[in-house]
Amino acid sequence: MELASLYAALGRIAPYTHRTPLLTSRLLDELMGKRLLLKAEHLQKTGSFKARGALSKALALENPKGLLAVSSGNHALGVAYAARVLGVKALLVVPEEASPFKKAAARAYGAEVVDQGVTARNREEVAKALQEETGYALIHPFDDPLVMAGQGTAGLELLAQAGKRGVFPEAVLVPVGGGGLIAGIATAVKALSPTTLVLGVEPKGADDARRSLLEGRIVRLEEAPRTRADGVRTLAVGELPFRVMRERVDGVLAVSEEALLEAERLLFTRTKQVVEPTGALPLAAVLEHGERLPYTLALLLSGGNRDFSP
Ligand SMILES: Cc1ncc(COP(=O)(O)O)c(C=O)c1O
Repeated sequence: MELASLYAALGRIAPYTHRTPLLTSRLLDELMGKRLLLKAEHLQKTGSFKARGALSKALALENPKGLLAVSSGNHALGVAYAARVLGVKALLVVPEEASPFKKAAARAYGAEVVDQGVTARNREEVAKALQEETGYALIHPFDDPLVMAGQGTAGLELLAQAGKRGVFPEAVLVPVGGGGLIAGIATAVKALSPTTLVLGVEPKGADDARRSLLEGRIVRLEEAPRTRADGVRTLAVGELPFRVMRERVDGVLAVSEEALLEAERLLFTRTKQVVEPTGALPLAAVLEHGERLPYTLALLLSGGNRDFSP
């Protein structure tokens, strides 16, 4: 995946996505002793950057009959939105026990949720069978070059917005699940601002990407990690993102659940932004590893779909 494919993705998706703002907060900067640039993807269509990748892929398909995804999270909302833009149906394969809040959110975007008899184990099989039956296009959440390029468009925007203000980000901090987002962002950053560091952030109990980069092979977690950051509970990074990460990501930081909660609280109280736990991972890294980090930092606030149900 090269820079040109990111610009091509931006050309496809720009009419249907927001150029989200790059926020700053003097209060937060003073508190953290840093200069922070906050890329506000929680204000993106569907409430997360996932709309970028889903649209980038969907708009490159030739007359798809419908779209299919295996997800109950932000990717599901992205695919539901992409289907609406294309004027086709979206089918989402979701485990029966997934949160009713998430199922309702997907239905609100006009998607059909398939959950009867679906478990975390059989959902891929169910999706394959549905794909054969319906002929709909399956959109992977991260292991796809067009999806990664779509996510990378947030990086193109971030660098342009920082440049316009005359600010040079010494490092960009990005949450890592399957690795699609960081692979896209790193492609933008290493092409346009090669001396800027690209750092991933994971919860301590889900640090498979950190270990994978250290060991030079994809490390799989044995079971779904317990963390507040539900967007990054993936067991392993994808093969295609990992190839890009090995070449272009400078390191991955792991953060505690306490730092994560504190980061969410700070974003809410100091900047009045509603950011979901996964989106607050970069600020948690500043809280916990600040002394090792440079002064001017861009943080990818990747999503805002917080579950407020009791
Ligand atoms: C809010 C949020 N941030 C980050 C990620 C991680 O993205 P990726 O799987 O591309 O690494 C996700 C994935 O669902 C997410 O929902």
